[in-house]
Amino acid sequence: MNFILLGAPGAGKGTLAQRLVSVFGLVQISTGDILRKEISAGTDLGKKAKSYMDSGALVPDEVILGIVENRIKEKDCEKGFIMDGFPRTIIQAEGFDSMLERNGLSIDAIVELSISDDEVVRRLTSRRTCSNTSCQAIYNVISSPPEKNGICDKCGSPLIQRSDENEETVRNRLVTYYDKTSPLVRFYSGSSRYLKIDASGTIDSIFSDVVSKTGLK
Ligand code: AP5
Repeated sequence: MNFILLGAPGAGKGTLAQRLVSVFGLVQISTGDILRKEISAGTDLGKKAKSYMDSGALVPDEVILGIVENRIKEKDCEKGFIMDGFPRTIIQAEGFDSMLERNGLSIDAIVELSISDDEVVRRLTSRRTCSNTSCQAIYNVISSPPEKNGICDKCGSPLIQRSDENEETVRNRLVTYYDKTSPLVRFYSGSSRYLKIDASGTIDSIFSDVVSKTGLK
């Protein structure tokens, strides 16, 4: 099955995607994670992306479309993929439709995670992420803390706060979301594959809801 996860920053897209990967063996494609890896590797792409990301703006569509087209052609995506944080603009969504057609692929479910702005700010200012770029496990000091303070349960690396999760940048990311990304709800909501999920519940209840409503096995 191939999924698109839609939702505001902090709605829980990455958390849900990581659970779907571990239970069903799907592949998570997070454009944010790909860009952060480029930044830590100091590539030209990373240098270009950093200033947009640090201010809460979006990286230009043509850059993102190129990254995604290369990624979905990789062999592991045959298992089924979850698009986490892409598409994020109407241009990206239209470009993705053409890309899927060119590559003989299709999307089975578009899942929107719906959440309030106050909850976004609460979740993102208390999030911690594993600093190991090949792990990237997500924690929350309030709702899902690690067993040992500041250390990843899975790989033992230090946990960090991302540079874009201070309150000011989170508020800017929300403005960008309403301006550029929320129009995608209208773009996709006419489709029978579209599903809106209340993302204010627990991680377990959201996961069960998505599994039962998509028929994922
Ligand atoms: P990106 O990395 O994609 O960030 P985002 O979409 O803004 O989303 P986040 O990763 O912040 O949140 P999430 O929804 O995954 O929530 P999470 O599961 O971590 O993008 C970063 C930047 O990169 C963008 O601003 C942009 O500049 C650039 N970019 C990326 N893609 C792009 C694109 N396509 N086009 C252009 N630019 C692009 O959960 C958050 C916290 O809440 C965690 O602590 C978690 O433990 C906790 N939590 C999760 N679920 C629950 C729950 N049910 N209950 C309680 N706590 C929960």
